[in-house]
Amino acid sequence: MIFITGGAGFIGSNFVLDWLAQNDEPVINFDKLTYAGNINNLASVRQDPRHIFVQGDIGDTAQVAALLAQYKPRAIVHFAAESHVDRSIHGPAAFVETNVNGTFGLLEAARSYWSALPDTEKAVFRFLHVSTDEVYGTLGPTDAPFTENTQYAPNSPYSASKAASDHLVRSYHHTYGLPTLTTNCSNNYGSYHFPEKLIPLIITNARAGKPLPIYGDGQQVRDWLYVSDHCAAIRRVLEAGKPGEVYNVGGWNEKANLDVVHTLCDILDELDPKATGSYRDQITYVTDRPGHDRRYAIDARKIERELGWKPKETFDTGIRKTVQWYLTNQDWVKDVQSGDYLKWVEKNYEQRQSSVEDKQ
Ligand code: NAD
Ligand code: TYD
Repeated sequence: MIFITGGAGFIGSNFVLDWLAQNDEPVINFDKLTYAGNINNLASVRQDPRHIFVQGDIGDTAQVAALLAQYKPRAIVHFAAESHVDRSIHGPAAFVETNVNGTFGLLEAARSYWSALPDTEKAVFRFLHVSTDEVYGTLGPTDAPFTENTQYAPNSPYSASKAASDHLVRSYHHTYGLPTLTTNCSNNYGSYHFPEKLIPLIITNARAGKPLPIYGDGQQVRDWLYVSDHCAAIRRVLEAGKPGEVYNVGGWNEKANLDVVHTLCDILDELDPKATGSYRDQITYVTDRPGHDRRYAIDARKIERELGWKPKETFDTGIRKTVQWYLTNQDWVKDVQSGDYLKWVEKNYEQRQSSVEDKQ
């Protein structure tokens, strides 16, 4: 079986669902259930004996060690993290705690478990660390995309904490021989995406008749990766990646934020039109994010060349599926838009200077 951390979050739950749809191998899903963890994402596998959910903190080395000893997984796939840049600006401590100290605790449990395995099991064991392209910093408009050799230059507390975790993972391979794999991917989008991130926030705000907040001039560029493509890349790296290696995973879909928001409004205008006007009318420019990275772009040729993975979805196909998912899963949206989410909206947006101008 495999041991997943953070499997109740956005990417982790997509990974668990895809894994169980394609595979009979059981999954231990270890998740703290922070505000971002949602057990309802896994409702369809609640009765499935191949899915064992355990609530806990990756920094609790003793609990992780006990679970590894009990279930004897052949691999750990590590998704658990604090993942939202804006939250890292308001409260960086949680990011250091989970992303740095937590990953350290998990690595310690993994090292001690792996060291005691018989040689044959030791040779096939893998620790796959899921990371981000944000560790490479920001690009100018004509710079070449990030490769696996791009120098680390993280700019936010989030990306700095992920960079630190990448370095720890690297060192556990180099020093102890732990068979690690690291993936650095671009911005994911798709089903079960918590509506604090750009794409689900815009879809849910649009339908609620609320402002669609654009930070700064909206010309920041992100590469967008459909979450199922990312899950397929992780399965492929787990299956065939070379221990100690890093693989960049991207969608070959560079888009300016404003273009993404326009696309979302246009699809919503078509699939769920307003009584009058366009969803674009709700676009509102707000104060920029401090230290906002201008552009991310991924060179994903290594994983294609060495492991034969490339994304199946274009942005046009993936974004349409995503909007459709949100339209047919309104109960899921309603459930997550409570408690901590409401407090977050107040903190992040009500403190930002409001609308500078409305644009079509
Ligand atoms: P998410 O915030 O949606 O989910 C994180 C999950 O981790 C939640 O279920 C949460 O409960 C759990 N968690 C948090 N702290 C924990 C702890 N201390 N112990 C155990 N569980 C804990 O995140 P996501 O978007 O699914 O991202 C998953 C991974 O992918 C993260 O490592 C993130 O850095 C990386 N990543 C995400 C993106 C993206 O676009 N979402 C892009 C690149 C990399
Ligand atoms: P986000 O989804 O938070 O991902 P990341 O910061 O990890 O790239 O944001 C994506 C882009 O959208 C980023 O450039 C910030 C911008 N953004 C807005 O313009 N408005 C918003 O309300 C949010 C949440 C993000």
